[in-house]
Parts: sequence; structure tokens; C-alpha cells
Amino acid sequence: MTLNSRAYYNGNTMKGVILAGGKGVRLYPLTKVTNKHLLPVGKEPMIFNPVRKLIEAGVTDILIVTSTEQMGSIVNLLGSGKDFGCKFTYKVQDRAGGIADALALAEDFAGNEKIIVILGDNITTASLKLHAEKFSKGTGAMVLVKKVGDPTRYGVAVLDEQQVVKIEEKPENPSSDFAVIGYYFYPPSVFGIIKGLSPSARGEFEITDVNNEFIRRGELSYEVLDGDWTDAGTFESLLEASKLLLAHHNEHGTHPHVLVSNEQIGEMIREYEEKIAELKKFPKAS
Ligand code: DAU
Repeated sequence: MTLNSRAYYNGNTMKGVILAGGKGVRLYPLTKVTNKHLLPVGKEPMIFNPVRKLIEAGVTDILIVTSTEQMGSIVNLLGSGKDFGCKFTYKVQDRAGGIADALALAEDFAGNEKIIVILGDNITTASLKLHAEKFSKGTGAMVLVKKVGDPTRYGVAVLDEQQVVKIEEKPENPSSDFAVIGYYFYPPSVFGIIKGLSPSARGEFEITDVNNEFIRRGELSYEVLDGDWTDAGTFESLLEASKLLLAHHNEHGTHPHVLVSNEQIGEMIREYEEKIAELKKFPKAS
């Protein structure tokens, strides 16, 4: 029996994208010869956390985008996905042109399906499963927000009661404490939006511009991530991420490979039961 390689929610399938390119300049010289997403966080390489989060949410068809220099190491680490119970596809981002530029490479992979996009340096112990289910039932895009102590480092959500009315990228005077964090839920229309973008002042194609276009269209919802989260792109946040996951790994253990989820086991049992029911319809050989 083969495992479903894509999450099914209400008949919709969903794929995952992990963005692990960029130069990691804020972590030099740690990132001079290695990719940021291979650095240790707790007891594992950083990129294991986004991989685990997708699998936990039932998403097992996963695209990894990374730089030419580091693709070899990333493939050496993750392989085909067989050991994790998932399937990895890889794409090279030739130049660190921004998060939206990296995401553009996922267009053929995503096809007509919805995607969950995770920034490879975002670390959490919370589950994305309920958010994925909610997203699958709705239309439009969805972002997750989290209250932070230093909003100037992030995309910041300007909120009214029900809506994100605007997102400001690294504002000097943030209008809320809610960061838009690196877990994005997109319909296929995201790729059309990316094609219409212009580079920002820092010369990158910004994910915040993508999200602001969804807001302009009235198609962006948000949820608050309930649980511990940090990015790991600076020395301080890398240490914070490591402390967070070390405590989690000590409490829950680590597995060299991700185990098959309860949902997948349930699906396998259902398939077996259906086959047994079919077989029972045939008369027994005497
Ligand atoms: O961590 C959440 C924040 O991430 C958001 O609040 C911001 O809105 C968003 O812009 C982003 O901010 P950063 O400045 O921290 O992003 P950074 O350049 O560090 O990139 C985050 C990840 O995206 C990185 O780990 C790898 C991937 N990336 C980034 C760039 C620039 C790529 O794959 N390719 C790229 O060209």
C-alpha cells in the first residue's frame, strides 16, 4: 500500500513549499560555507522543523527551494523523502531575489492546488493542522500572526477587528505588535500576483507585497498562531530557537526520521477495511 503523498481536506489536495534560499548574511560567518537552514537548532538541522510541521499537517508533497551553492548539502540531508514518509522535489533559486522570487519557482509544482509556504528559518512547536483545515475550507489566502516584542524586524499587521487592513514590512514605527510570520497559505492565484510585482527598495520581491495584493482584493484572512514561535535568522533568535526546540526535543524526544502521522495510519486502516469488505463479498473457496 502506498501512502497518499498529498493532504486531502474536503476533497481538495494541498502541497507544501519550504523556502530555504537566501544568503543568511545576518549570521555570517556561520553561514559563510553552509546554508542557514542546515545549522543546528535543538538537536536537529533547522530545516527539519518546517518539514515536520508540513507532515504533521498531513502535507507530504513538498518542494524545497534553495541556492545553487547549497543544493547539494540540502539534498544530502533530506534525500527523496522516503525516510520521512514524504516526497521532496527540489528547485534552485539562482540569485537571492527575495521570498516572492523564490516562491515563483513553485508555480509548476503547485499546479492547480493550494499550497502552504513555510520560511525555512521559522521555528515553532505549534501544529499547523487546524490552520490547514480552516484554509482548505475557505477561498483566498491566509496568513498567521503572532505577538512579538520587536515588531520592527518583521512584516507587521495593521489590524481592525476582523481584518488585516495592511501589512508593513519592517516598519520603523509599527502600528501593532503582531508580526506576520513565515507560514503562508495560498491559492494558485498567488503566482499571477507575483508576476505583477516590482522589486522593493532593497531590490527584493517581497512576500509582504503579495499579501497586500490579496488584501486589496479582499481575499486575505488571518489566524493567530497558538504556541511558541521564533525565526532563527539572527544570532539572538537562533539561540532562542535552539533553546525552544532543545526543551521540546528533551521532553518529546527526536526521531531520526519523521514517523507516519496518525492521520496517515487512519487512512491506511480505512483502505484495508474497504478491501476486506470487498473480499468478503466473494464466496469462500471450499
Ligand atoms: O520570519 C518572518 C518574517 O520573514 C516576516 O515577518 C517578514 O515579513 C518576511 O519578509 C521575512 O523577513 P526576513 O527579513 O526575516 O526574511 P529573510 O530574508 O531572512 O528570509 C526568510 C527566509 O526566506 C529564509 O530563511 C530563506 C527564504 N529566502 C529568502 C530570500 C531573501 C529564500 O528562499 N530566497 C530569498 O531570496
